[in-house]
Order: sequence, then C-alpha cells, then structure tokens
Amino acid sequence: MRIEVENLTKRYRDAHRELAVIESLTCSFPDKGAVAIIGRSGTGKSTLMHLLGALDSPTSGTVRYDGKAISALSSDERAAFRAKHIGFIFQFHHLLPEFTALENVALPLVMAGTAEGEANERSQEILARVGLADRMTHLPSQLSGGEQQRVAIARALVARPAVILADEPTGNLDLATASEVQKLLLAMNREQGSTLIIVTHNHELARSLDMVFEMHPGGALVGLQDAQGAHV
Ligand SMILES: Nc1ncnc2c1ncn2[C@@H]1O[C@H](COP(=O)(O)OP(=O)(O)OP(=O)(O)O)[C@@H](O)[C@H]1O
Ligand SMILES: [Mg+2]
Repeated sequence: MRIEVENLTKRYRDAHRELAVIESLTCSFPDKGAVAIIGRSGTGKSTLMHLLGALDSPTSGTVRYDGKAISALSSDERAAFRAKHIGFIFQFHHLLPEFTALENVALPLVMAGTAEGEANERSQEILARVGLADRMTHLPSQLSGGEQQRVAIARALVARPAVILADEPTGNLDLATASEVQKLLLAMNREQGSTLIIVTHNHELARSLDMVFEMHPGGALVGLQDAQGAHV
C-alpha cells in the first residue's frame, strides 16, 4: 500500500509555548519493501509513526493510503482501517500479560471476526514460523525478551497487513537477539510483500534496506538512500 504524506505538521502545545515537532513534511513511501527512518533522539520519529498509523492526529496536513486520506475517516473507521491494514510493533511489546502467546497472536484475527478455529490455526502457523512452536501456551512473563518480541511480530503480521510500522522493535534486546529478530521481520516483510517502515538507531540495518530517511529537528525527512540502494 502506498503511503503519501502531504504538508504534515504536528505541534504540541502546553500552557506556555508551542513545540513544532514536524513542520510541513511532504514525502512518500514505496508500496512494498523496507524503509528505515533514522535520526537523533527527540527529532520526531515516534511522532511521525503515530501520525502514519493514525494513532494520533496531525495539527494539519494529510496522510494518504493508496490515495485515501485517513484524516477524513471517523475515529471508528480509523480504528477499523488500522486493524485491517496496519501492523504495529513497538520497542516494548505490549502483549497482554494474562493471555498466552497463542491467544495474543490470535487477537487481531478474532477482533476482525475470523472464526476461532481458523484464527488458532493461522496463529499456530505464524508462531511456528517465528520459532515458537513449543511456546504457544506460555504467558508473556514465561518468555524471554527476544521470544516476547517474536510473539509481538507474529501478532503484528498474522492478519497479513499491507503496512507494518515498527518503532525501534528491537531496541530493548541484546545485539545478537536484535539482529535475529530483525532478520525475521525483514524475511516476513518480503514473503508477505508488505511495506515495512522501521525506526532504528542501527545504521548497519538501515543501510541494508531499500530506502533510508533521516529525520532532522523540525521533522525534515531527508532521503539518504533510494529504492535501488544507491546513496542519494
Ligand atoms: N505528547 C507530547 N506532548 C508534548 N511534547 C511531546 C509529546 N510527545 C512528544 N513530544 C516531544 O516531541 C519531540 C519528538 O518526540 P518523539 O518521541 O517523536 O522523538 P523520537 O525521534 O522518537 O526520539 P527517540 O529516538 O528518543 O525515540 C520530543 O522533543 C518530545 O519531547
Ligand atoms: Mg521514539
């Protein structure tokens, strides 16, 4: 799915002043493949991801999916759009603590009205794919950090969303585990033919992707590497 951003502005306001995090950003992302967003802390990467994922509303400007402006949708329609088309992976997994790995993964399917048998089957399949065939009935507290993050990836991808938004998805893992989880995420992005937008501080990972943007203060997004992997 093609994501286009036009004149996007996000300002936070408190009693005393206004903070412009993103100012008139216009850019577009390819309709499949993996895109990295890098940049210093506080430059607005997470803010942008929240706007792209319709988790937050811009002060002004538009985010379009295949030409359709998500800001034109009601909040119920936005929630339905998110559930159908977008998979989210965050630095901390946000798994439901009282649900097993399998139940956590099945949740997006169950919410979308998939029959229980089919939801379980597809969740088992994808958990096996991320190497957790023998951890299905474990609770999050009974899983290691890397395992929890793999469950979060399985949950984000089980409904085969067209777009995956990953905000430092391996930020709380050790280097070796992080690299394993990143490889898995990229492999599944290729298999499913989705668009993956990943915020990362790992420049080596960023360079290995199809496109790299660097976020600067004020929300300017500068393309560093184009779709052919050439540096621009
Ligand atoms: N709800 C909010 N209210 C006020 N200011 C906010 C709010 N959310 C974020 N900010 C400010 O916006 C700026 C950008 O924050 P954001 O979380 O997008 O940065 P980031 O690039 O993701 O940083 P990091 O790499 O540390 O995760 C920061 O200066 C932050 O203090
Ligand atoms: Mg952030």
